[in-house]
Amino acid sequence: MQLTFNEALLSTQTDALIVAVRSHPSHSDSTLNRYLQTLLQDGTFSGAVDEVEVVYPVQGLGCKRVIFVGLGEENVTPASWRKAITAGYQHVKDKVSVLGVLMPSDADPSMLAESTVETVVSLSYRFHPYRTHPPEPSEKTLTELVLPCADKSNPANAARDALVLANVVNQARDWSNRPGNQLTVPELLKAIESVSSEHGLSCQVLDAAALKTEGLHLLLGVGRASIHQPALAVVTYQGAPNNDATIALVGKGLTFDTGGICIKPRAGMEEMKSDMHGVATVLGTLAVAASRRLPVNLVVAMPLAENMPGGNALKPGDILKAYDGQSVEVIDTDAEGRLVLADAIAWIIQHHQPGILIDVATLTGSIITTLGYEATGLFSPDDALAESLTQAGERTGERLWRMPIWPAYEKHIKSDIADWRNATPMKGDAIAAAAFLKQFVGQTRWAHLDIAGPSYLPESKQHLPKGSTGVGIRLLIDWLTHHHA
Ligand code: BES
Ligand code: ZN
Ligand code: ZN
Repeated sequence: MQLTFNEALLSTQTDALIVAVRSHPSHSDSTLNRYLQTLLQDGTFSGAVDEVEVVYPVQGLGCKRVIFVGLGEENVTPASWRKAITAGYQHVKDKVSVLGVLMPSDADPSMLAESTVETVVSLSYRFHPYRTHPPEPSEKTLTELVLPCADKSNPANAARDALVLANVVNQARDWSNRPGNQLTVPELLKAIESVSSEHGLSCQVLDAAALKTEGLHLLLGVGRASIHQPALAVVTYQGAPNNDATIALVGKGLTFDTGGICIKPRAGMEEMKSDMHGVATVLGTLAVAASRRLPVNLVVAMPLAENMPGGNALKPGDILKAYDGQSVEVIDTDAEGRLVLADAIAWIIQHHQPGILIDVATLTGSIITTLGYEATGLFSPDDALAESLTQAGERTGERLWRMPIWPAYEKHIKSDIADWRNATPMKGDAIAAAAFLKQFVGQTRWAHLDIAGPSYLPESKQHLPKGSTGVGIRLLIDWLTHHHA
């Protein structure tokens, strides 16, 4: 989708023009105002929240249709603007190629431009790479979004930045929606290498042989029964070379999670193709950070594996030695995420000594039971870090909810015969998983984001599509920008 700027938007040729108005609407443009007054008198549209009315103007405007959207009485916030644009655009989705959006004059124009682009690009997301039949002739794709700002203005720049981010989010959705037979470990490595080379970044890949030499036996164990060997990919971005603080991002990268020998029930198992959404999030964050040249140093670690049953697979009761030397009893082969993350976390701390480490993972069904699809579970012993991440969540709408990670939970992950066990009979498995990861973090400032809920939606929700959402990229970019720029 192309972004263009035209201050004379009312006379510009578009397929549809979204015009958002307050309650008791009026407009400075006489043609728009005439329509509004007619609708108001008719009782069909009063500008209340969630109201949408489409009119086909006869003359006086460049657009084929005007979509009036109600904003109600309240001040416009990023959230209410996203909602309004969603309501308006959904009316004509698949029917328009060129869309214009007029913006209210009493809210921050850069904020409006940014959330307009975010919302429209998100709503335009389609995942049809495997369709062989052409779409219906009536099904149009959006090719151009026209905003009424000057080309060299702050709102135009905000819109351009937002487009880069929104395109990366859609790319992350693609990665995460691709099925397990397509996005295998080698294919995901290719995607990682292509992002790295696109931004001139160095990518290190530890293949199975290197993992063995280095001693990442948890990651090796999880990937053992797959025909695709596990790997650890590490990409660094130095946006602040004079600053020696590094932020590590670690993403869970299970290209498919069958559960292994503790095989999952069949219902819904196909969703486990998105068990690498943590990688999609951290890789997408890296891509945006690099293209915006954010002044931060990042090291991004991505443990990749496919969790399969097989003659060679991990079994319940098996004991493995982690990279940092601790021993782990594998009680449940389906609790594999915490295993691969533990090795990647310990390895990245040993080799890169990050000041802060954030891991992102579709780690537990338990967090979905707890928070549903509305929030990511945030676990961190560090109040300041938890607070700054929570604020980024509120600003971006990718909300986080902090969960406890008290030492009292640790007795549940103690094994009788090894140092730790990867599953427990305790209720609250999301917390047990976080407590397990904590054992591999040492003194590093750390936060764990369990994105199992918001990363994959059973139904579309507002501007977010059904399936993979790309959650976490906007959050982490906001956090990196506000916290570290
Ligand atoms: N990948 C799953 C977690 C998950 C479940 C993500 C549903 C998204 C949707 C993880 O590897 C897993 O299987 N966890 C188990 C842990 C249990 C066996 C202790 C779970 O949550 O059931
Ligand atoms: Zn699992
Ligand atoms: Zn998993």
